[in-house]
Amino acid sequence: MPWRAATEEALYGAHGFYRRPEGPAGHFRTSVHASALYAGAVARLLCRADKALGHPLELGFVDMGAGRGELSAGVLAALPTEVAARTRAYAVEIADRPDGLDHRIEWCAEPPERVTGLLFANEWLDNVPVDVVEVDAAGTPRLVLVRADGRERLGEPVGGEEAAWLERWWPLAGEEGLRAEIGLPRDRAWATAVAGVERGLAVAVDYAHLADARPPFGTLTGFREGRETAPVPDGSRDITAHVALDACALPGARLLTQRDALRALGVTAGRPPLSLATTDPTAYVRALAGAGEAAELTAPGGLGDFGWLVQPVGIPHQIPHPLGEGGSEGEGDTEHGRE
Ligand SMILES: C[S@@+](CC[C@H](N)C(=O)[O-])C[C@H]1O[C@@H](n2cnc3c(N)ncnc32)[C@H](O)[C@@H]1O
Repeated sequence: MPWRAATEEALYGAHGFYRRPEGPAGHFRTSVHASALYAGAVARLLCRADKALGHPLELGFVDMGAGRGELSAGVLAALPTEVAARTRAYAVEIADRPDGLDHRIEWCAEPPERVTGLLFANEWLDNVPVDVVEVDAAGTPRLVLVRADGRERLGEPVGGEEAAWLERWWPLAGEEGLRAEIGLPRDRAWATAVAGVERGLAVAVDYAHLADARPPFGTLTGFREGRETAPVPDGSRDITAHVALDACALPGARLLTQRDALRALGVTAGRPPLSLATTDPTAYVRALAGAGEAAELTAPGGLGDFGWLVQPVGIPHQIPHPLGEGGSEGEGDTEHGRE
């Protein structure tokens, strides 16, 4: 099978990895699991969107690819009471609703339509399956076919929309062995998710690469029980590939690093003043732990390097951008991601 079909079955089929009871948190740690500071920052972003939208009677929060609903629950818990009372939270997820989830969270298989508010997709797009291509000895990019045990062989040359996508977003030199992942299904998935937002913001956060630095051999990999492993599409592990976020971006989008986005939302890793240790030791210890968690969320070479694709939808131009003036802006081209 081509990788896209094999991954679809391995992750979301009847016995797929994401239908397992332990959920994503049983195998890897996202920013959501790393610290409650993350949900706090997303709650602040929702409040900024709320302000830009003129405090609507119903404020939507869509947690796209929600895992076990941890982010939705954290955001609701972090919101000011008045905002929480107007917030309608949707967790969009292929897996079943977990027991004990906050009853205020609606669990859905598809994103709701015509939302006014914030759609937030943390580590969703990297799990939208993609096809893989590899350049053969004659310099032709061919679709990579894979068996359930992970063994590969080359199939047909790539053509049509897939070839056009590669040409535009991930051109391959004719050198044998170079590989790429065709991001087209992600561009489409993102466009569909954004279309569900009538007014507000859509944000995708993920491992990303941009047109000026695509990885020459792609990034397809597996994760199981906390370890990176070979990408074998047998349902036993996550199969993921970094996201060409600049290709997903729609006009008016901004791309920035998680480090910059979280800083704009008030998450900083500075140590608390030592004087606090004598005046209020408990507060000092709490602040120190918070600083450690903030450091993990913003770490160079780690979560801090993740990309945030911030897509305003129908927010009036005269209102300041909810994440300040940082990051870059463009019209759906490679300039999006440069900082
Ligand atoms: C890497 S996990 C991230 C979970 C959570 N957002 C977090 O950050 O901890 C990706 C999740 O997206 C879900 N997912 C993938 N494609 C989806 C789709 N089309 N609709 C709903 N959920 C989807 C998977 O089932 C999985 O739970």
